[in-house]
Amino acid sequence: MTFPPDLISRLRATPKLVALTGAGVSQESGLRTFRDSQTGLWAQYRPEDLASPQAFARDPKLVWDWYAWRREAVKGARPNAGHYALAEMANHIPEFTLITQNVDGLHHMAGNQNLLELHGNIQRVRCTNCYTLAEAWDDDTESVPRCAVCSGLLRPDVVWFGESLPRAQLEAAVEAARACEVFLSIGTSGVVQPAASLAHAARDCGALLVEINLDPTPLTSKANYFFQGKSGEILPELVKVVWDVS
Ligand code: OAD
Repeated sequence: MTFPPDLISRLRATPKLVALTGAGVSQESGLRTFRDSQTGLWAQYRPEDLASPQAFARDPKLVWDWYAWRREAVKGARPNAGHYALAEMANHIPEFTLITQNVDGLHHMAGNQNLLELHGNIQRVRCTNCYTLAEAWDDDTESVPRCAVCSGLLRPDVVWFGESLPRAQLEAAVEAARACEVFLSIGTSGVVQPAASLAHAARDCGALLVEINLDPTPLTSKANYFFQGKSGEILPELVKVVWDVS
């Protein structure tokens, strides 16, 4: 793949860059996306049956078990070349903010520090009653595990449909998007708000918009550059060309 010289020099010189990632970035780690027509999770399951407060109220065990199944897949997954390329990129840009919609923790595992997890993390749970967070719980029960502090029902610490995003993370993401010079949108269909609006906010504030995706998205016509293909292949090539590292 060839990258335009203008883009290469902008990336070399930029002091502030934001990368927003979605499920496509983890696809090459063996994790399923949401909206791919054949293999996406939402092709097989209805979000309102599994990823909403109403679904949990109706059938907590069903929802808990679905997340337990996804958690098992995440446990076996490792970062791919795209995750590592983003971690390497962070070494070359003074203010590098990585914003992810992914709940799999793979960016953290790849070594990224300045990371905003907008939709939570599937490896964590929180109490539905007292909000205590936990990374370990008693899974040895037939029913949904309960909070060690108040015995309330535990739930995954992820954002469900109809819920607000963690406020501090969202505010930091908006601020970073408005201040950056380059905004990368990678492996996301760009249809879920408010994450999808970050690219537009960056563009409105003058940032260069770069998209990497297997397929065009609603953002593509607004992007200054669109690179079609796998993020696990394009990102390492880009990092190598721009900073001469692999
Ligand atoms: P989607 O499943 O909506 O989109 C994944 C995107 O990744 C698609 O545009 C694919 O074309 C692209 N893609 C797939 N494989 C790729 C690869 N190897 N390299 C590059 N691109 C690839 O996932 P998200 O945009 O992350 O929210 O979905 C956003 C949110 O919707 C999720 O965080 C989740 C979901 O409902 C919650 O659960 C709150």
